[in-house]
Amino acid sequence: MTKIAIILGSTRPGRNGEAVAKWVLDIAKQRSDAEYELVDLADFKLPHLDEAIPPSMGQYTHAHTKAWAAKIASFDGFVFVTPEYNHSTSGALKNAIDYLYAEWNNKAAGFVSYGSVGGARAVEHLRLIMGELQVADVRAQVALSLATDFVNYSQFAPAPYHTDILGTVLDQVVAWSEALSSLR
Ligand SMILES: Cc1cc2nc3c(=O)[nH]c(=O)nc-3n(C[C@H](O)[C@H](O)[C@H](O)COP(=O)(O)O)c2cc1C
Repeated sequence: MTKIAIILGSTRPGRNGEAVAKWVLDIAKQRSDAEYELVDLADFKLPHLDEAIPPSMGQYTHAHTKAWAAKIASFDGFVFVTPEYNHSTSGALKNAIDYLYAEWNNKAAGFVSYGSVGGARAVEHLRLIMGELQVADVRAQVALSLATDFVNYSQFAPAPYHTDILGTVLDQVVAWSEALSSLR
């Protein structure tokens, strides 16, 4: 069955991302079109990229790189849950993405973002990065507002309409993940 990772892109203590990622997982788990798994970057404890050889060569030396590569290789597509830090994604997520190459290729990705303008700028950066990694990024996107989808900017309380949009994101990610399977 198609396997989709929901990648939690914030490692910050007290992060809002955890509640967002769990919301995504809860909704995804109600579907029968794919297997969905939460992948928390905090569990992988990746240092700043410390491999001597560029990831596109696929010669990983460290145990943390091999563990991260095996995890990402096991999926057909991704939903990135990303905060917006200084008009981009988090450094932790960019670093985790940079660690690998082939493990991302010919897969699909969608985005669930949050920030003062829905994390829109973070996702625009991620879409550029996806192009370099040969990841097909879908159009639909959940953009959560810190002002209206969180109480006091910290308690996640998404407006109901986001659930439908998330459904479209998942529809598109699963469809493209399956369509790209012949290239993998
Ligand atoms: C270093 C840093 C930079 C931030 N820059 C932005 C920003 O440029 N735009 C924005 O909308 N929010 C910004 N924020 C607010 C974050 O979007 C908000 O704190 C969010 O909850 C962060 O996600 P997290 O709690 O899951 O780590 C920033 C927060 C931090 C910690």
